[in-house]
Amino acid sequence: MKTFKIALIPGDGIGPEVVAEGVKVLRTIEQLDPSISFSFTEFPWGCEYYLKHGKMMADDGIEQLKEFDAIYLGAVGYPGVPDHISLWDLLLRIRKEFDQYVNIRPITLLNPELTPLKGKTAKEIDFLVIRENSEGEYAGAGDWLFKGKPEEVVLQTGVFSRKGTERIIRYAYEEARNSKRTLTSISKANALNYSMVFWDEVFNEVGKEYPDVKTYSYLVDAASLYFVTEPERFEVVVTSNLFGDILTDIGAAITGGMGLATGANVNPERKFPSMFEPVHGSAPDISGKGIANPIAAIWSVSQVMDFFGEEQWGEAILSTIKEILTEQPSLTSDLGGNSSTSQVGDRFVDLLSAKVSEVGVSQE
Ligand code: NAD
Ligand code: IPM
Ligand code: MN
Repeated sequence: MKTFKIALIPGDGIGPEVVAEGVKVLRTIEQLDPSISFSFTEFPWGCEYYLKHGKMMADDGIEQLKEFDAIYLGAVGYPGVPDHISLWDLLLRIRKEFDQYVNIRPITLLNPELTPLKGKTAKEIDFLVIRENSEGEYAGAGDWLFKGKPEEVVLQTGVFSRKGTERIIRYAYEEARNSKRTLTSISKANALNYSMVFWDEVFNEVGKEYPDVKTYSYLVDAASLYFVTEPERFEVVVTSNLFGDILTDIGAAITGGMGLATGANVNPERKFPSMFEPVHGSAPDISGKGIANPIAAIWSVSQVMDFFGEEQWGEAILSTIKEILTEQPSLTSDLGGNSSTSQVGDRFVDLLSAKVSEVGVSQE
């Protein structure tokens, strides 16, 4: 019996609502697969915790999280606590402290009906964004000078280290090589005359070790256009922290919306735990109503299972997502359905259980 230790950080707004459904899926896997068990520890960290304790997580929070095999997070940030405090003290802190320098965000159209792009098929919208997740525009470096004075100046410095840039680009080349896909680097060297000139140089340098990988390089403004007009151009994409953040919301938009987008924050060396989360935030506009779409969070569970080496479960979850997406009434209102968050989760585990009892899940 394999036991995986999972830290749950449901967080704020719709975070707890969608994480509950992901946990339902994990519990179902436990029931269906006698070789797997999970031990969950839930951490009550987030904005409510901040309002009580003046901090987003326990002082030794990072230490406490170290022993887990994975962290499963809902969302962080809520009106009442400034976003730059809540995010820097929890989500961004975990990404940094655990050196989760790879953010893997699939942009995959799981049902052709769901794209707003006229005539685009699932085959044409199927790529992977590899976002640098530890530095760049998110280095947190800067200054605020002469506050409130006429000469006030604010600096926000991007930090692109050789180590940080090489490792993400190398990771992307490996991914492209191993999956025999093309690799596209997205940058902006025409305007960002230090950081992105360096990024492009590193992309070309590292590329010499991968002559078998066909590459493209686009400016981020043009790439944003192509995400919408010609997503079929992309197979594996590598880009900086901020560009990856923005581009993957466009990716969500072309594949069915924020309720369907997932991301894995990975420390490839496995020195520290990796963290899995939907791409969306706490959605204060819909939280507390029981209408948040839990499918992004369920897709994160699929990424967790792949990460644990239980790919048969990752695959079973993904194919069950494709199945539920064909049943419109079983979906939440963002996808035109009329089900609640927990009804989607219930229907999902029924479909998963039926699939597994029909075909079984291969076990080594
Ligand atoms: P958001 O992703 O929370 O919401 C954007 C829009 O998408 C809203 O209209 C929302 O209703 C909708 N949406 C998001 N998730 C949905 C779901 N599962 N089902 C149905 N609709 C969904 O982005 P925002 O409004 O810009 O940010 C709200 C808060 O969340 C802010 O505090 C922000 O900093 C934070 N945030 C956190 C994360 C994270 O924790 N990873 C990510 C993004 C934003
Ligand atoms: C995301 C989020 C975060 C980011 C925010 C909440 C700091 O938007 O994970 O996409 O920008 O990385
Ligand atoms: Mn984002």
